[in-house]
Amino acid sequence: MSEDIILRVEDIDVYYGDFLAIHNVSMNVKAGTITSIIGANGAGKTTLLDTIMGFNKPRKGKILFEGEDITGMRTSAIVRKGLSMAPEGSMVFEGMSVKENLLMGAYASKSRKMRSELMEKVFLLFPVLKEKENQLATFLSGGQRQMLAIARTIMSNPKLIICDEISLGLAPVIINDIYDKVKEINETGITFLIIDQEVQRSIEHSDYSYVMVSGSIVLEGVASELPEDEVKDAFFGINKYA
Ligand SMILES: Nc1ncnc2c1ncn2[C@@H]1O[C@H](COP(=O)(O)OP(=O)(O)OP(=O)(O)O)[C@@H](O)[C@H]1O
Ligand SMILES: [Mg+2]
Repeated sequence: MSEDIILRVEDIDVYYGDFLAIHNVSMNVKAGTITSIIGANGAGKTTLLDTIMGFNKPRKGKILFEGEDITGMRTSAIVRKGLSMAPEGSMVFEGMSVKENLLMGAYASKSRKMRSELMEKVFLLFPVLKEKENQLATFLSGGQRQMLAIARTIMSNPKLIICDEISLGLAPVIINDIYDKVKEINETGITFLIIDQEVQRSIEHSDYSYVMVSGSIVLEGVASELPEDEVKDAFFGINKYA
Protein backbone atom coordinates (compact mmCIF):
# COMPACT_ATOMS: atom_id res chain seq x y z
CA MET A 1 0.00 0.00 0.00
CA SER A 2 1.18 3.48 -0.82
CA GLU A 3 2.70 5.09 2.24
CA ASP A 4 0.84 8.33 1.91
CA ILE A 5 -2.55 6.67 2.34
CA ILE A 6 -3.39 7.20 6.00
CA LEU A 7 -6.83 5.60 5.94
CA ARG A 8 -8.04 2.90 3.62
CA VAL A 9 -11.55 1.50 3.54
CA GLU A 10 -11.71 -1.73 1.59
CA ASP A 11 -14.96 -2.99 0.16
CA ILE A 12 -17.12 -2.75 3.27
CA ASP A 13 -20.76 -3.71 3.74
CA VAL A 14 -22.56 -2.38 6.82
CA TYR A 15 -26.00 -3.53 7.92
CA TYR A 16 -28.55 -2.28 10.43
CA GLY A 17 -30.37 -5.53 11.11
CA ASP A 18 -31.35 -6.75 7.65
CA PHE A 19 -30.96 -3.33 6.06
CA LEU A 20 -27.84 -2.92 3.94
CA ALA A 21 -26.85 0.70 4.67
CA ILE A 22 -23.44 0.66 2.96
CA HIS A 23 -22.48 -1.55 0.08
CA ASN A 24 -19.01 -2.26 -1.33
CA VAL A 25 -17.59 1.03 -0.15
CA SER A 26 -13.89 1.65 -0.67
CA MET A 27 -11.93 4.81 -0.13
CA ASN A 28 -8.36 6.04 0.30
CA VAL A 29 -7.63 9.11 2.36
CA LYS A 30 -4.25 10.62 1.57
CA ALA A 31 -2.22 11.83 4.51
CA GLY A 32 -2.18 15.60 4.87
CA THR A 33 -5.31 16.23 2.82
CA ILE A 34 -8.77 17.51 3.60
CA THR A 35 -11.03 14.85 2.10
CA SER A 36 -14.79 15.19 1.98
CA ILE A 37 -17.76 12.90 1.59
CA ILE A 38 -20.74 14.31 -0.25
CA GLY A 39 -24.21 12.80 -0.45
CA ALA A 40 -27.91 13.38 0.12
CA ASN A 41 -29.74 12.62 3.36
CA GLY A 42 -29.60 8.94 4.11
CA ALA A 43 -26.78 8.23 1.64
CA GLY A 44 -24.78 6.48 4.34
CA LYS A 45 -22.20 9.14 5.21
CA THR A 46 -22.60 8.94 8.99
CA THR A 47 -22.76 5.15 8.82
CA LEU A 48 -19.41 5.13 7.03
CA LEU A 49 -17.79 7.46 9.58
CA ASP A 50 -19.26 5.52 12.50
CA THR A 51 -17.89 2.33 11.01
CA ILE A 52 -14.41 3.81 10.63
CA MET A 53 -14.57 4.83 14.31
CA GLY A 54 -15.66 1.35 15.39
CA PHE A 55 -19.25 2.20 16.42
CA ASN A 56 -20.56 -0.08 13.65
CA LYS A 57 -18.95 -3.30 12.52
CA PRO A 58 -18.76 -4.03 8.82
CA ARG A 59 -20.11 -7.43 7.84
CA LYS A 60 -17.60 -7.59 5.03
CA GLY A 61 -14.42 -5.71 4.11
CA LYS A 62 -11.60 -4.04 5.99
CA ILE A 63 -10.52 -0.72 7.42
CA LEU A 64 -6.81 0.04 7.55
CA PHE A 65 -5.23 2.94 9.40
CA GLU A 66 -1.59 3.57 8.57
CA GLY A 67 -1.55 0.12 7.04
CA GLU A 68 -2.84 -1.59 10.17
CA ASP A 69 -6.11 -3.49 10.15
CA ILE A 70 -8.41 -1.74 12.65
CA THR A 71 -11.62 -3.49 11.57
CA GLY A 72 -13.68 -4.47 14.58
CA MET A 73 -11.38 -2.75 17.08
CA ARG A 74 -12.96 -0.93 19.99
CA THR A 75 -13.43 2.80 19.52
CA SER A 76 -11.12 3.62 22.43
CA ALA A 77 -8.33 1.61 20.78
CA ILE A 78 -9.00 3.30 17.44
CA VAL A 79 -8.75 6.73 19.10
CA ARG A 80 -5.42 5.68 20.61
CA LYS A 81 -4.14 4.83 17.13
CA GLY A 82 -4.72 8.45 16.09
CA LEU A 83 -8.28 8.78 14.78
CA SER A 84 -10.77 11.10 16.41
CA MET A 85 -14.26 12.24 15.50
CA ALA A 86 -16.36 15.34 16.09
CA PRO A 87 -19.85 13.86 15.78
CA GLU A 88 -22.91 15.26 14.01
CA GLY A 89 -24.69 18.01 15.95
CA SER A 90 -21.62 19.57 17.63
CA MET A 91 -22.22 17.37 20.63
CA VAL A 92 -20.72 18.67 23.83
CA PHE A 93 -21.24 17.76 27.47
CA GLU A 94 -23.65 20.54 28.41
CA GLY A 95 -23.25 20.25 32.17
CA MET A 96 -19.46 20.39 32.10
CA SER A 97 -17.16 23.34 31.70
CA VAL A 98 -15.30 23.96 28.47
CA LYS A 99 -12.10 22.72 30.09
CA GLU A 100 -13.77 19.55 31.39
CA ASN A 101 -15.14 18.93 27.92
CA LEU A 102 -11.64 19.18 26.52
CA LEU A 103 -10.30 16.77 29.13
CA MET A 104 -12.97 14.25 28.12
CA GLY A 105 -11.21 14.10 24.78
CA ALA A 106 -7.84 13.52 26.39
CA TYR A 107 -8.24 10.00 27.69
CA ALA A 108 -6.07 8.69 24.88
CA SER A 109 -3.20 11.06 25.56
CA LYS A 110 -0.90 9.34 27.92
CA SER A 111 0.92 11.79 30.13
CA ARG A 112 -0.15 14.83 32.07
CA LYS A 113 2.57 16.76 30.25
CA MET A 114 1.11 15.80 26.90
CA ARG A 115 -2.36 16.84 28.04
CA SER A 116 -1.22 20.28 29.05
CA GLU A 117 0.69 20.68 25.78
CA LEU A 118 -2.40 19.71 23.81
CA MET A 119 -4.57 22.04 25.89
CA GLU A 120 -2.12 24.83 25.10
CA LYS A 121 -2.31 24.02 21.40
CA VAL A 122 -6.12 24.08 21.57
CA PHE A 123 -6.21 27.44 23.35
CA LEU A 124 -3.81 28.92 20.81
CA LEU A 125 -6.05 27.74 17.99
CA PHE A 126 -9.29 28.69 19.75
CA PRO A 127 -8.71 31.72 21.99
CA VAL A 128 -12.47 31.97 22.59
CA LEU A 129 -12.37 28.59 24.36
CA LYS A 130 -9.57 29.85 26.59
CA GLU A 131 -11.73 32.85 27.52
CA LYS A 132 -14.58 30.53 28.41
CA GLU A 133 -12.63 27.62 29.84
CA ASN A 134 -14.46 27.67 33.17
CA GLN A 135 -17.95 28.30 31.78
CA LEU A 136 -20.47 25.53 31.25
CA ALA A 137 -20.62 24.33 27.65
CA THR A 138 -24.37 24.85 27.67
CA PHE A 139 -23.77 28.62 27.46
CA LEU A 140 -21.72 28.41 24.25
CA SER A 141 -23.07 29.59 20.91
CA GLY A 142 -23.52 27.11 18.05
CA GLY A 143 -20.22 28.08 16.47
CA GLN A 144 -18.38 27.83 19.76
CA ARG A 145 -19.83 24.38 20.33
CA GLN A 146 -18.59 23.20 16.97
CA MET A 147 -15.18 24.67 17.80
CA LEU A 148 -15.24 22.84 21.13
CA ALA A 149 -16.22 19.60 19.40
CA ILE A 150 -13.24 19.95 17.05
CA ALA A 151 -10.95 21.13 19.84
CA ARG A 152 -11.88 18.04 21.86
CA THR A 153 -10.69 15.78 19.04
CA ILE A 154 -7.31 17.51 19.14
CA MET A 155 -6.93 16.53 22.81
CA SER A 156 -6.35 12.92 21.78
CA ASN A 157 -3.40 14.02 19.61
CA PRO A 158 -4.97 12.67 16.41
CA LYS A 159 -3.38 12.14 13.02
CA LEU A 160 -6.80 12.13 11.38
CA ILE A 161 -9.83 14.15 12.45
CA ILE A 162 -13.26 13.17 11.22
CA CYS A 163 -16.04 15.80 11.29
CA ASP A 164 -19.64 14.84 10.63
CA GLU A 165 -21.90 17.72 9.48
CA ILE A 166 -19.30 20.32 10.20
CA SER A 167 -21.51 23.33 9.42
CA LEU A 168 -24.93 22.09 10.47
CA GLY A 169 -27.15 24.89 11.77
CA LEU A 170 -24.39 27.53 11.69
CA ALA A 171 -24.47 30.99 10.11
CA PRO A 172 -22.29 31.54 7.01
CA VAL A 173 -19.74 33.80 8.75
CA ILE A 174 -19.31 31.24 11.51
CA ILE A 175 -18.92 28.46 8.96
CA ASN A 176 -16.09 30.43 7.37
CA ASP A 177 -14.40 30.70 10.77
CA ILE A 178 -14.73 26.95 11.28
CA TYR A 179 -13.18 26.21 7.90
CA ASP A 180 -10.36 28.66 8.61
CA LYS A 181 -9.63 26.65 11.75
CA VAL A 182 -9.78 23.39 9.84
CA LYS A 183 -7.24 24.77 7.39
CA GLU A 184 -5.01 25.96 10.21
CA ILE A 185 -5.15 22.59 11.96
CA ASN A 186 -4.60 20.80 8.64
CA GLU A 187 -1.46 22.86 8.12
CA THR A 188 -0.04 21.44 11.36
CA GLY A 189 -0.06 18.07 9.58
CA ILE A 190 -3.42 16.65 10.66
CA THR A 191 -5.52 14.99 7.95
CA PHE A 192 -9.27 15.71 7.79
CA LEU A 193 -12.24 13.68 6.63
CA ILE A 194 -15.32 15.88 6.63
CA ILE A 195 -18.98 15.91 5.77
CA ASP A 196 -20.85 19.08 4.92
CA GLN A 197 -24.45 19.13 3.73
CA GLU A 198 -23.61 21.97 1.35
CA VAL A 199 -21.97 20.41 -1.71
CA GLN A 200 -20.34 23.51 -3.12
CA ARG A 201 -18.82 24.50 0.18
CA SER A 202 -17.64 20.97 0.78
CA ILE A 203 -15.86 20.94 -2.58
CA GLU A 204 -14.36 24.39 -2.07
CA HIS A 205 -12.77 23.41 1.20
CA SER A 206 -11.41 20.00 0.33
CA ASP A 207 -8.66 18.52 -1.78
CA TYR A 208 -10.44 15.33 -2.69
CA SER A 209 -14.07 14.23 -2.54
CA TYR A 210 -16.13 11.06 -2.52
CA VAL A 211 -19.77 11.17 -3.59
CA MET A 212 -22.19 8.69 -2.04
CA VAL A 213 -25.61 7.64 -3.31
CA SER A 214 -27.78 5.07 -1.52
CA GLY A 215 -24.95 3.45 0.40
CA SER A 216 -22.40 3.34 -2.40
CA ILE A 217 -19.63 5.59 -3.64
CA VAL A 218 -20.51 6.61 -7.19
CA LEU A 219 -17.91 9.25 -7.91
CA GLU A 220 -14.57 10.42 -6.57
CA GLY A 221 -11.89 12.85 -7.58
CA VAL A 222 -9.92 15.99 -6.98
CA ALA A 223 -12.60 18.22 -5.50
CA SER A 224 -12.24 21.11 -7.93
CA GLU A 225 -12.40 18.78 -10.94
CA LEU A 226 -15.57 16.86 -10.10
CA PRO A 227 -18.21 17.14 -12.86
CA GLU A 228 -20.79 19.53 -11.43
CA ASP A 229 -23.88 17.94 -12.99
CA GLU A 230 -22.98 14.47 -11.72
CA VAL A 231 -22.39 15.78 -8.22
CA LYS A 232 -25.75 17.55 -8.37
CA ASP A 233 -27.52 14.35 -9.44
CA ALA A 234 -25.89 12.52 -6.59
CA PHE A 235 -26.90 15.14 -4.11
CA PHE A 236 -30.51 14.89 -5.18
CA GLY A 237 -30.26 11.15 -4.78
CA ILE A 238 -30.53 10.29 -8.43
CA ASN A 239 -28.73 7.02 -8.74
CA LYS A 240 -28.05 6.47 -12.40
CA TYR A 241 -25.32 4.04 -11.48
CA ALA A 242 -27.71 1.50 -9.92
N1 LIG B 1 -29.29 3.14 13.78
C1 LIG B 1 -29.89 2.88 12.62
N2 LIG B 1 -30.76 1.86 12.49
C2 LIG B 1 -31.36 1.58 11.31
N3 LIG B 1 -31.15 2.25 10.18
C3 LIG B 1 -30.29 3.29 10.24
C4 LIG B 1 -29.62 3.66 11.45
N4 LIG B 1 -28.84 4.73 11.19
C5 LIG B 1 -29.01 5.02 9.90
N5 LIG B 1 -29.88 4.14 9.32
C6 LIG B 1 -30.27 4.14 7.91
O1 LIG B 1 -29.10 3.95 7.13
C7 LIG B 1 -29.10 4.78 5.98
C8 LIG B 1 -27.90 5.67 6.00
O2 LIG B 1 -28.03 6.60 7.08
P1 LIG B 1 -26.89 7.62 7.49
O3 LIG B 1 -27.31 8.27 8.73
O4 LIG B 1 -25.59 6.92 7.46
O5 LIG B 1 -26.95 8.64 6.27
P2 LIG B 1 -26.32 10.10 6.12
O6 LIG B 1 -25.75 10.13 4.75
O7 LIG B 1 -25.43 10.38 7.25
O8 LIG B 1 -27.59 11.01 6.18
P3 LIG B 1 -27.80 12.51 6.79
O9 LIG B 1 -27.35 13.43 5.70
O10 LIG B 1 -29.27 12.59 7.01
O11 LIG B 1 -26.99 12.62 8.03
C9 LIG B 1 -30.44 5.54 6.01
O12 LIG B 1 -31.35 4.84 5.20
C10 LIG B 1 -30.85 5.47 7.46
O13 LIG B 1 -32.25 5.51 7.60
MG1 LIG C 1 -25.39 11.85 8.73
